[in-house]
Amino acid sequence: MGAYAAAYERSIADPTRFWGLAARDVRWLVPPDRVLDDGAPPFYRWFTGGELNTCDNALDRHVEEGRGDQAALVYDSPVTGTERTYTYRELTEATARFAGALRAQGVDRGDRVIVYMPMVPEAVIAMLACARLGAVHSVVFGGFAARELAVRIDDARPKAVVSASCGVEGARIVPYKPLLDEALGLARHKVERCVILQREQLHADLQRPRDVTWDEAVARAEPAECVPVAATDPLYILYTSGTTGRPKGVVRDNGGHAVALRWSMENVFGVGPGDVFWAASDVGWVVGHSYIVYAPLLTGCTTVLYEGKPVGTPDAGAFWRVAERHRVKVLFTAPTAIRAIKKEDPDGALLAGRDLTAFDALYLAGERLDPDTYHWAERMLDRPVVDHWWQTETGWPIVANLRGLEPMPVKPGSPSVPVPGYDVRVLGPDGAPLPPGADGDIALRLPLPPGTLPTLWQDDERFVEAYLDARPGYYLTGDGGRIDDDGYVWVMGRTDDVINVAGHRLSTGTMEEVIAAHPAVAECAVIGVRDDLKGQVPRALVVLKSGVLAEESELAAELVRLVRDQVGPVAALKEVTVVPALPKTRSGKILRAAMRGIADGRDVTVPSTIEDPEVLDGLRPVLGPGRP
Ligand code: COA
Ligand code: AMP
Repeated sequence: MGAYAAAYERSIADPTRFWGLAARDVRWLVPPDRVLDDGAPPFYRWFTGGELNTCDNALDRHVEEGRGDQAALVYDSPVTGTERTYTYRELTEATARFAGALRAQGVDRGDRVIVYMPMVPEAVIAMLACARLGAVHSVVFGGFAARELAVRIDDARPKAVVSASCGVEGARIVPYKPLLDEALGLARHKVERCVILQREQLHADLQRPRDVTWDEAVARAEPAECVPVAATDPLYILYTSGTTGRPKGVVRDNGGHAVALRWSMENVFGVGPGDVFWAASDVGWVVGHSYIVYAPLLTGCTTVLYEGKPVGTPDAGAFWRVAERHRVKVLFTAPTAIRAIKKEDPDGALLAGRDLTAFDALYLAGERLDPDTYHWAERMLDRPVVDHWWQTETGWPIVANLRGLEPMPVKPGSPSVPVPGYDVRVLGPDGAPLPPGADGDIALRLPLPPGTLPTLWQDDERFVEAYLDARPGYYLTGDGGRIDDDGYVWVMGRTDDVINVAGHRLSTGTMEEVIAAHPAVAECAVIGVRDDLKGQVPRALVVLKSGVLAEESELAAELVRLVRDQVGPVAALKEVTVVPALPKTRSGKILRAAMRGIADGRDVTVPSTIEDPEVLDGLRPVLGPGRP
């Protein structure tokens, strides 16, 4: 039996022993009494009784163990023309001081802190400082609008917000502070303190005494020590798009998270202490949490924080420049980024001549990796290109080619095999497991491994209802697909109303809420349709209230602006079409999947429950790929 098969079997047969051994790589202040606490299914907890501090494991520990002078974080920002390196010692000192600053603002163990920041080192420092205090950070992606930020503020009820005066999006300066002020005005929860990093590109107006600058807060602060927390205490909340307009607050614990992420670095990514790891994502997404911040630092790697785009900052050679300059071993990004590079530099002219001798592999996730993009990247780089599948809820890969453990043959289009700890099954409409080759719902048998969500923030009921209720004993991933005869998993896409736009997970329900609130709109549907660059883009179909006479192009522009203002530019809604009616089932459910299928040019089986088949047929010319 190969190393992968043996590890996988051990992890499923005896998870306690498997993860108990992995836990030895974490520094515990109090060792756990139990590895897996399965006393209250469907809730499972890992490493109960244990105490640790995640920041201690990510920073202080490495300084004590001799990595003080090694680079911990390299900030590379083509958009501001800045490069800055923090050694482990420097990052520990900066974090301890900022933790002291937060404490002076009243932040304590268990308090929540919202971090609304661009890709600057201070974002990482703020996250680690919260971990140091035992406070719970909730990072909100900068591309979300004020309303989305307000929803998260009301759910997390933070003691403080850490933000910056602006972000830099290519050549555009995005003022963050007005968005924050607007969100604080919209939120019912009142935030006592905001710490604002003033960036030289744009200074923000402050509302004293609520707001203090980062520099003022730090100047007065005493460094704070690491506060011991329970393994099961929350480290962070990360809101992610669900089917409804209300985002889900995915909770991550401290102990299971540290153990799983540390294990994943060597076994999934083949990366160890001292290696340079670069996740070209954003700290606002789970990839940023896990693989820009926590996993590389828990492992004693050098992590690269890149403030730029794959193209346009300044060109499609940016990734290769960064990989060469910082001697990156593994680069992790979304397929969209590679498609953007391919579009601008199809022959890899900007790659030629780059010294990528340190470069070992390219890892891609966040959306389906289409075989064309896979083949192109592999040909250009002449290195393994590794697809892997996971989601915000799990926090680390569910299915991957575990190059650190045992590289497997690649099947382009499949992210390969289940990662140890994940019992992956495909279930049919009646909930029974399906045989190899059959398409169904991809589910994970409980218990989920360490590092995955124990619940949703202060909402056990919604956690059970959203993921567990439909198929007792399983966690439903929301993705559909199959497992083939060789055990490879094929992930074919979401089965719910979540869409993936340029690797960004968005809810069509949120966009529908915004559009439906417009006075001219009777009803609407937003669907994700296939896009060559971004994988999927949203498309809105609206039915006008009777008697409303609206100029379609004007109304469309207005709705696009509304979604941009209320959800955020990242929603990337560009196309709105007025239609006479929407296809529905007899019980009134809008047939989004059928519309999506037509828009993608697939053969669509019209459900027998359809109320009026002519409505759907009437939409074919509007939706179809051959539409004018
Ligand atoms: N703050 C403010 N605005 C932001 C933002 C942020 N952090 N991130 C994105 N936006 C804005 C963009 O400026 C853009 O605005 P525009 O409509 O005015 O141009 C809009 O949101 C859409 O952004 P994006 O989806 O990034 O599209 P793009 O056209 O700017 O770039 C790609 C296309 C492919 C280059 C880009 O999507 C990309 O780099 N994708 C990789 C995705 C990724 O890393 N995902 C993380 C999961 S691994
Ligand atoms: P997020 O929670 O933002 O990480 O998005 C998770 C969703 O992205 C998954 O449920 C999938 O729909 C999709 N996804 C992520 N990685 C892959 C992949 N490698 N292949 C196919 N879909 C993916």
